[in-house]
Amino acid sequence: MQKSILILGACGQIGTELTYALREKHGNEVVIASDIREGNEDLMNSGPFELLDATDYNALEEVVAYYEISEVYLMAAMLSATAEKFPMRAWNLNMNSLFNVLNLAKEKKIDKIFWPSSIAVFGPNTPADHTPQNTIMEPSTVYGISKQSGERWCNYYHQKFGVDVRSIRYPGLISHKTMPGGGTTDYAVEIYHKALSEGSYTCFLKKDTRLPMMFMDDAIRATLLLMRSKPENIKIRSSYNLAAMSFTPEEIAKSIKAWIPDFKISYKPDFRQEIADSWPSSIDDSQAQKDWGWQSNFDLEKTTKEMLSNLKE
Ligand SMILES: NC(=O)c1ccc[n+]([C@@H]2O[C@H](COP(=O)([O-])OP(=O)(O)OC[C@H]3O[C@@H](n4cnc5c(N)ncnc54)[C@H](O)[C@@H]3O)[C@@H](O)[C@H]2O)c1
Repeated sequence: MQKSILILGACGQIGTELTYALREKHGNEVVIASDIREGNEDLMNSGPFELLDATDYNALEEVVAYYEISEVYLMAAMLSATAEKFPMRAWNLNMNSLFNVLNLAKEKKIDKIFWPSSIAVFGPNTPADHTPQNTIMEPSTVYGISKQSGERWCNYYHQKFGVDVRSIRYPGLISHKTMPGGGTTDYAVEIYHKALSEGSYTCFLKKDTRLPMMFMDDAIRATLLLMRSKPENIKIRSSYNLAAMSFTPEEIAKSIKAWIPDFKISYKPDFRQEIADSWPSSIDDSQAQKDWGWQSNFDLEKTTKEMLSNLKE
């Protein structure tokens, strides 16, 4: 019998599309979506769903046993901007959910884990251009501290207990199926919605703030590629750098203007500017290219075309 896959936090920006992709690949019935809240109608109707709190070990263990889960994708977390407002809640959610899945694997109740990290693990002292895989990491945000600690624990569980945990440091993700959930790069999704609905957008970052970004299709493809790679090819058990493109608010606005010439952007930086200023502007992902053959497909022009044409429908 084919073992099943469990997604925790399946109703979020990444979880939703990851659920669709895994269901398409493995079949609807063996991919169990779960979250503390219900998701959109398409997701809820596409296969099994469980209301599940990822910080509740006993409830998680029960679902894992019931569905004979072998692989867990842990997408539940509190993101960067929200975490600055609720530091202890963010720490508890981000760390306890991770310990729960790591301990399930340590006890041989599941075989494999995917856990996402973020470019937020880097900090103001990290070289900002082409940030290397191994470099200074002194995160200055609650979210970044939790992700960096998480990376160290993943590596520790792999070294000490042989846990097969795999991870990617996602850049800011751009998608049209689900709205983003409280991150610092959310502007790069909101801007397309506002461009179509209002013809203008007020950006919460300065016009020249360059950040690493990726279109969701690339992020999902990278995730599946990493999870299907042979264990001996996975040389990094903390988390892999991953890159596709880097741009500023001014540059994304210019790419939108190529389709909507009257589009107007203005800038009103808020507390998220400080978070963005502490992050890299571009990422060196040569290790992911070398170890498991990573190559991105979407640049800014292609992303803008996809976003505007899909959101128009
Ligand atoms: N979206 C990005 O740009 C980005 C970038 C880097 C890393 N990441 C990481 O990827 C992961 C998923 O991010 P996302 O953008 O989809 O986030 P999101 O906020 O859109 O979704 C998170 C989901 O987790 C759920 N959740 C919250 N608490 C829960 C709990 N106790 N139990 C179960 N579910 C719970 C929420 O209801 C939500 O549906 C996170 O770990 C995030 O840090 C995201």
